[in-house]
Amino acid sequence: MPTAIVTGATGITGRAVVDHLLKAPEWTKVTTMSRSQQPTPNPKLKHATIDLQSSAHTMTEDLKDVDADYVFFCAYLARDDESEAAKVNGAMLQNFIEALHHTGTIKHLKRLILVNGLKQYGVHLGRAKQPMHETDTWLEGDPWPPNFYYTQQHILADAAKKDDNKWSWVVTYPQDVIGVAKANFMNLATALGLYASISAALPDHELPFPGSKTNYLGFNNWTSANLHAEFCLWAALEPKAGNQGFNVVNGDTESWQNLWPQLAARYGAKIPPNMFPGGDDESYKDYEAAHTELPTPMPLTEYAEKIGLKDEFEGKHSVIHQQIDTTKWAKRPEVVKKWEEIRDKAGLDQQTWEKATWGFLTFLLGRKFSCVVSMSKARSLGWTGYKDTWTAFDETFAELEKEGILPKVSQLKD
Ligand SMILES: NC(=O)c1ccc[n+]([C@@H]2O[C@H](COP(=O)([O-])OP(=O)(O)OC[C@H]3O[C@@H](n4cnc5c(N)ncnc54)[C@H](OP(=O)(O)O)[C@@H]3O)[C@@H](O)[C@H]2O)c1
Repeated sequence: MPTAIVTGATGITGRAVVDHLLKAPEWTKVTTMSRSQQPTPNPKLKHATIDLQSSAHTMTEDLKDVDADYVFFCAYLARDDESEAAKVNGAMLQNFIEALHHTGTIKHLKRLILVNGLKQYGVHLGRAKQPMHETDTWLEGDPWPPNFYYTQQHILADAAKKDDNKWSWVVTYPQDVIGVAKANFMNLATALGLYASISAALPDHELPFPGSKTNYLGFNNWTSANLHAEFCLWAALEPKAGNQGFNVVNGDTESWQNLWPQLAARYGAKIPPNMFPGGDDESYKDYEAAHTELPTPMPLTEYAEKIGLKDEFEGKHSVIHQQIDTTKWAKRPEVVKKWEEIRDKAGLDQQTWEKATWGFLTFLLGRKFSCVVSMSKARSLGWTGYKDTWTAFDETFAELEKEGILPKVSQLKD
């Protein structure tokens, strides 16, 4: 019967992995780790308060009574500087693996599952080749900035090799995750739910799409945190999945032109008849826009010559455009007043507003390029998981309401 350690157990990906391990009868013991919050108590679960930024020596002490044959490494620390992100997140993984050697747990380890994401393909740097495949070129060396996913994957593969591959690893690449967490670094559903609920409660009840027209009409994938958790459990036990990375998305390709009206309907908001009155590079009515040209070349330039589009993309940079800068929107007096009214009526935590990841929302809705990945690799090994993206959003909003993170739709009326 397999047993597990989950690091980052209270984050958006880790929390779902813990829930699925607890529900799956074959997993008999789950040790969760994080620094601040704790998962809900459960007879199968033991929580350890551990700082993965501490030395391997300190962690050895913390981990001395912990044993497991699978590790789900979902811990993550955001840093604005990419070199710092690589240093910090690389060290957390490296020191943790070293501590497992000191405690002897490594002798029983069968597989370590590491959660990464689509930064694997440089989607944070601009337009990548579409759809993205696991075999795509890694963006390493000049002109590409450090990437903590590559740092972690090198650490992981080297560590397994050093142990004569007695244990194996799997890396997952989820797209923008739809899930539940409190005060984490990247939370699309919470920021979107706050934007939609406050917009619906304002006097005109309008729900303008804050991002770019290109994105509204473009195509993307998303990843349900629950589906991703199912994937992690499958990949842990699937013999053929070892020592490789996998894209993990819902299995449908969706578009905001389809999702946004459903979001408006859920919150009882109105779709403006002319969603983009200024076109694709202006602001919406009197709102402040945000327009950023990304500093690095587009990842697609790695493929530009091969696909016969050399001059079209070389030297070009991708753009993020929000016709409503949600960071500034969240500070507008009428918006803050409405949030405070709803917060008090629904008994919500002020932290939800203060920690809402508006910058992340800006990036995801403002991208002027699509983000579509291939799921063929996992499917060829037998993975059949699927989740309808709107259903994932709808269920997640409901869960965030149950957790007291988002207001209920009934609480938005005066
Ligand atoms: N969120 C998304 O939409 C998204 C999309 C694609 C890929 N990803 C990737 O998924 C991976 C996991 O990120 P996530 O979004 O699930 O993270 P998250 O929601 O921000 O959660 C991070 C987790 O790590 C724990 N943690 C942070 N620093 C720690 C430390 N020093 N010691 C121990 N625990 C620590 C946090 O708990 P404490 O703070 O309490 O310690 C928390 O449980 C990352 O590689 C991320 O880039 C995320």
